[in-house]
Amino acid sequence: MAKIGTPARRLFYFNESYFLNQKEEQMNVLVIGGGNMGITYAEAIAKSNFLSSGSLMVFDKSEEKQAELRAGGFFSVHSGLGTCLPEADVVLIAVKPVHAPGLMDEMRPMVSAGQLFISIMAGVTIDTIKQRLGIDKVVRAMPNLPAQVGLGMTSFTASEQVSRLELATIEKLLDTTGRSLNLASESEIDASTGISGSGPAYIFYFMQALLDAALKMDFNKEDARLLVGQTFSGAVELFNSSDLSPDDWMAKVASKGGTTRAALDSMDGNNLNSLIQEAAYAAFRRAEELGKQTDGKEVAHA
Ligand SMILES: NC(=O)c1ccc[n+]([C@@H]2O[C@H](COP(=O)([O-])OP(=O)(O)OC[C@H]3O[C@@H](n4cnc5c(N)ncnc54)[C@H](OP(=O)(O)O)[C@@H]3O)[C@@H](O)[C@H]2O)c1
Repeated sequence: MAKIGTPARRLFYFNESYFLNQKEEQMNVLVIGGGNMGITYAEAIAKSNFLSSGSLMVFDKSEEKQAELRAGGFFSVHSGLGTCLPEADVVLIAVKPVHAPGLMDEMRPMVSAGQLFISIMAGVTIDTIKQRLGIDKVVRAMPNLPAQVGLGMTSFTASEQVSRLELATIEKLLDTTGRSLNLASESEIDASTGISGSGPAYIFYFMQALLDAALKMDFNKEDARLLVGQTFSGAVELFNSSDLSPDDWMAKVASKGGTTRAALDSMDGNNLNSLIQEAAYAAFRRAEELGKQTDGKEVAHA
């Protein structure tokens, strides 16, 4: 696995004139799709001051969404691709995978070879995007939900035609929503989907189970929410504050014959560790399946 901020093999290309000759702040970025993720990125980029004002554009096909986005005032909102796509140096595609084929067919006559495309669409492969758009520079990224609060984890990988310089810029762009990890292959993107992409839902699952237990123990909803939420926040903070592993922390908190040991023994007795690993692999396999389904033909699911 690659390390954070360590791009795998990359070549320099002479057609990266924009990145070589101009400043990143002067780069034009277009976000296509003003839904949950598109807006998360657009707002994070706007607030980061990474780009100069007027350099960030958003296009959503729905008029209602356009009006809503205009009210925010953070970026220019476009009602058609013709006014924004040809101006963009970097295009972030944030529509549902099911809308990808139609959108890419509409984009194709307006794109050019120097442009770089970032896709956050689950299961849509780099090859599919290259073929459908007729371009070479593609970054495929897999963000997760905490991007909405600036604590996202985005894994990404790029086509060979994306240079180190371009990739460093893209990494900064993605990091406006949290942290990122540059991976060497799309298969690792599928694997990371099983860990960080789908991962927040596993945590919510665990939280819900603890909430349910707290309610059964007669805590009211408000108190149960506080007990569970603060316990998760505190444990995560501890984990991030040192290099200790979760096993190390468990050993610190669970003494022989004590309450925590009783709970951990119960989890071990029920093979909870294996079940969680199995769940992560189920997401990994599903990500692989979705990628195969979308290869050059149809894009069916989110
Ligand atoms: N949500 C997550 O946690 C998460 C995590 C990782 C990856 N992703 C990926 O992020 C992508 C976006 O997810 P989302 O939850 O933000 O979806 P979303 O809320 O449905 O947002 C997509 C937006 O794009 C609009 N749209 C559809 N077709 C379009 C077109 N041809 N041109 C312009 N705009 C168009 C949609 O309009 P309508 O509503 O009118 O169709 C909608 O406003 C998906 O591909 C998903 O796989 C999401």
